[in-house]
Amino acid sequence: MRIDVYTIFPRIFQSPLEEGLLGKAIRRGLVEVRIHDIRDYAPGKHRQVDDAPFGGGPGMVMKPEPVFEAVTRTLGYRLEELERLKREVSVIMLTPRGERLTQAKVAELASRSHLALICGRYEGIDERVLQHLCTEALSIGDYVLSGGEFAALVIIEAVTRLLPGVVGNLESLREESFSGGLLEYPQYTRPAEYLGWKVPEVLLSGNHGEVEKWRRRMALEWTRRMRPELLNEGDKGEGG
Ligand code: ADE
Repeated sequence: MRIDVYTIFPRIFQSPLEEGLLGKAIRRGLVEVRIHDIRDYAPGKHRQVDDAPFGGGPGMVMKPEPVFEAVTRTLGYRLEELERLKREVSVIMLTPRGERLTQAKVAELASRSHLALICGRYEGIDERVLQHLCTEALSIGDYVLSGGEFAALVIIEAVTRLLPGVVGNLESLREESFSGGLLEYPQYTRPAEYLGWKVPEVLLSGNHGEVEKWRRRMALEWTRRMRPELLNEGDKGEGG
């Protein structure tokens, strides 16, 4: 999989892309991530990427030209070839106005071959970018970030761990929260007693059937308490 990211803050991505499972996947070539500075594609001496909103109002709006230029030039398309670009690459705008990200959506993204993630600033990005350059808009949740950079990292992280070969133990993907439409059961490790708090007896019993039953019951209880709406969504296969 290849992921191209467009941002005016490229340095935000440096260390997150080097650490942990994600860093390892990149070094192993399982995913290729390229970060592009939108400012490099802004014309003029001042490399201006934003301007006042038409119609008035607070804040600045990101100009369309540098974004169109950055995406088409780095991906090797002409501005006249946007339709072909959009057929070949999923161009995704990160914005709280977008469709809300779920594990099911993450899995769908992981099946595509090439993503382009556009990080707007919260005040806004000229709507023509969304209308004519993007294939979709995604939000990582109902809260507001100052820009799409951290949302892009969330998508890169969540998608990469579903790519073949990234997570060694496939069992751990299957068991984790949302994959069965439930939140995950609680986990314990040694010591069996710490400051007087004991690990549930059944987990020490060696009885796999009982352990499985307990885990299922805990997953259900926890889901009912924290996210009751997931229990009703289960049949629709939304997975979270
Ligand atoms: N940009 C600002 N807030 C965002 C959010 N919640 N999701 C995606 N992009 C954003």
